[in-house]
Amino acid sequence: MKGLFATSLSALLAGHAVAESMTVLKELKLKDWAAESAAGAYDFDRYEALQAVTPCTNGRAGEYQCSNVDLVSFLRHQDMGSSTRTGNDVWGWTSSTGREFGAVGQTDGTAFVEILSDGSLVYLGRLPTQTTNSSWRDIKVIGNYAYIGAESSNHGLQIFDLTKLLTVNPASPRVFSITSDLTAHFRGFGNSHNIVAHEETNMIYAVGTGSAAGCRGGLFMVDVSNPARPTSPGCLSAGGYVHDAQCVTYSGPDTRYTGREICFNYNEDSLDITDVTSKSSPVTISSTSYNGVSYTHQGWLADPQMRFLLLDDELDEQRRRGPAANQRTTTYIVDISNLSRPVFTGTYQSPAIAIDHNQYVVDGISYQANYGSGLRMVNVTSLSTDSTGRGINEVGYFDCYPEDDSVGGRAAFTGTWSVYPYFNSGYILLNSIERGLFSLRYTG
Ligand SMILES: *[C@@H]1O[C@H](CO)[C@@H](O)[C@H](O)[C@H]1NC(C)=O
Ligand SMILES: *[C@@H]1O[C@H](CO)[C@@H](O)[C@H](O)[C@H]1NC(C)=O
Ligand SMILES: *[C@@H]1O[C@H](CO)[C@@H](O)[C@H](O)[C@H]1NC(C)=O
Repeated sequence: MKGLFATSLSALLAGHAVAESMTVLKELKLKDWAAESAAGAYDFDRYEALQAVTPCTNGRAGEYQCSNVDLVSFLRHQDMGSSTRTGNDVWGWTSSTGREFGAVGQTDGTAFVEILSDGSLVYLGRLPTQTTNSSWRDIKVIGNYAYIGAESSNHGLQIFDLTKLLTVNPASPRVFSITSDLTAHFRGFGNSHNIVAHEETNMIYAVGTGSAAGCRGGLFMVDVSNPARPTSPGCLSAGGYVHDAQCVTYSGPDTRYTGREICFNYNEDSLDITDVTSKSSPVTISSTSYNGVSYTHQGWLADPQMRFLLLDDELDEQRRRGPAANQRTTTYIVDISNLSRPVFTGTYQSPAIAIDHNQYVVDGISYQANYGSGLRMVNVTSLSTDSTGRGINEVGYFDCYPEDDSVGGRAAFTGTWSVYPYFNSGYILLNSIERGLFSLRYTG
């Protein structure tokens, strides 16, 4: 919550370090990426195209450290039509007949791949950026449509009908048109940092939009009930900049909110819980900071009962703050049984040194994309009996960034950006900034 006084006064009063702003965070990342670029990490043919399935044996799958996760397939960014050869977000789509596709964010656009039944990846084509290139592109899917935003000025929201992929011949991948191939281009905001989707209500929330959007970077609401005619029914600006969020139809223990549309907003210096059922007058239920707060980045509900959520702070490891002082990736556990009074009950620390980025929880496993330590699969089912996090354990990993292995890991903004763990087939997509897209399989 950065209220009208725009300070982190509450955090200061509580004895917490003041969190950083997106501007500072962006500079830190651009510095890491410029160094990588200068070292040739994004050069053409810098990485080898990998053909064969590479099982994880004795802690290795080829050059990658791993445990219980096989490398099934891989496509370099250059093999997915990118001329900048740098990746970011990733999301997935399953067709009505069960075919599985990935939408892969890159600096210069979104690449589309199919994941075949043996897990192999096939490049089908791409949708270029709507305006300029940007390191930040974000994609979500509702129904048969992809919704794509970027930190590019005037980018807006690209709305792309994914059924167009069903008829592509992989022998001739298609470059889709940013005009005639879009179902719609929503111009109500320009740049955005993240795209949040709530499938059940057909709502897109663009977050981290620029000042011209007039929403202070908060939840910029876009109703996509008709993807061809998106409209904006409102905005939640009370908490200031929202970095990322998860919105659900609430069915948790706080019965005051049963059936309401609740968003959990990761707001740089706090976790804000908001009721957005009324789009014209959304309500902030609570705003809570914590020891170690440095940049409240993202998080996900940990259990279907909606009792706990997992929160990742993107700067605490590098800044050595609070429980992350030892730089091991730190996940905060929050008991949200009472939406007015979330309680930070403990932390889970990865064995690896790395910064955390995006995590999604499926059936008790948190799939964490942790930059330099890659995919980390963490069993969080013990939370129902022990909210301290002591019962949480890693069940598998795949480290897609070997460059920092010799120094035992680094708290830097290099390696993986995001993971998509929702396919029925069980194949997991991991998008790395430098290399490309990995198709992985858990074998534990
Ligand atoms: C994105 O970057 C690539 C590689 O530098 C360049 O060829 C391309 O023109 C850029 N695209 C835009 C839209 O600026
Ligand atoms: C939830 O927290 C609020 C604020 O601390 C408190 O007033 C309320 O009694 C709590 N509700 C329950 C059910 O504990
Ligand atoms: C997670 O832990 C629970 C409880 O110990 C166990 O039943 C389950 O099999 C574990 N899941 C995985 C994937 O290891």
